[in-house]
Amino acid sequence: MNPDTPLQLLGGLTAREFMRDYWQKKPLLIRQAIPDFESPIDADELAGLALEEEVESRLVIEHGERPWELRRGPFAEDEFSKLPEKEWTLLVQAVDQFVPEVSELLENFRFLPSWRVDDVMISFAAPGGSVGPHFDNYDVFLLQGHGKRNWKIGQMCDTDSPLLQHADLRILAEFHETEEWVLEPGDMLYLPPRLAHCGVAVDNCMTYSVGFRAPSASEVLTHFTDFLSQFLSDEERYTDADAQPAVDPHQIQHDALDRLKSLLAEHMSDERLLLTWFGQYMTEPRYPELVVGPEDVEEDDFLNALQDGAVLIRNPSARLAWSEVDDDLLLFASGQSRYLPGKLRELLKLICAADALHVDNLGEWLNDEDGRGLLCELVKQGSLGFADE
Ligand code: SIN
Ligand code: CO
Repeated sequence: MNPDTPLQLLGGLTAREFMRDYWQKKPLLIRQAIPDFESPIDADELAGLALEEEVESRLVIEHGERPWELRRGPFAEDEFSKLPEKEWTLLVQAVDQFVPEVSELLENFRFLPSWRVDDVMISFAAPGGSVGPHFDNYDVFLLQGHGKRNWKIGQMCDTDSPLLQHADLRILAEFHETEEWVLEPGDMLYLPPRLAHCGVAVDNCMTYSVGFRAPSASEVLTHFTDFLSQFLSDEERYTDADAQPAVDPHQIQHDALDRLKSLLAEHMSDERLLLTWFGQYMTEPRYPELVVGPEDVEEDDFLNALQDGAVLIRNPSARLAWSEVDDDLLLFASGQSRYLPGKLRELLKLICAADALHVDNLGEWLNDEDGRGLLCELVKQGSLGFADE
């Protein structure tokens, strides 16, 4: 993707201009980002997904058993027929993992790293439906899928912003409106993290939220140090062979801090380990139980199947990414990593990018032992699977 090509999705801005001026900085309204967009799923199909055990869904009812009542799915079919006529919202997470046409929408966002994508959440709201004024810690592109929604944006928030007393929802107690628009199908609003916003359905409406995730500093530190600790022996300790006799034995001297700082720096600056951890962490599936491979796959059977025309596709719940360090390549697949020889570079790129893998695009890679072995491993791990399985 050429970063200097004007994109309809970004209202004629290039990806480079969007990233420079708006990404993580300020909101952008784009009329007809996807011209004549028609939602690939309708309200009934969305409600159908919310009945499924493996699908994460919520209902927010503004005047329910209590104000802003939150119910969590899976739902029973008759729950929908008992809802009031207005002022409720059904929200279904990660629809991209269950509906291929929704996953295809993500192709429009390839100017952002795929490992930053969280999911495509779809909401259906009855007239007046809203989840209340709130802020998210993530970047989001709100694409109107059906009907009209009134969006208001407000102030920048943080953890100190006052919230209503509510056990589950983080609804802002104060909302200082700065702008307001009505979005129609195909219109899109980009919001940077922490910007207060409130969307209210004008009529029966569907909104697609393409969400991007970023780990918190606390997550990075907790999980990276946890990962690192597997490689550290109990013998490796704070050492002070250079220490001078204590002047006051009860005082912690600054030279102790310096020793600690160098102990931390030594481990924190290991780029291979940092990269390995990060790739694994960012490709961990949102629903790991949906990434399971077959017990056993014989490489010969696997190869024969491909040669007979079978097609490998990425498990919609799997996440893939690749990187390089020194002369090695790294493939990250659903929370696991593996070092690979540099000659596999084009294969890794193909595996990460292709919708489907088959004899035609795999070509010579099927004659390469490492290449074959890698594909077979990804099937065993569940990140790839045969299309007709
Ligand atoms: C919604 O679709 O109702 C809410 C989306 C959001 O504000 O993040
Ligand atoms: Co939001």
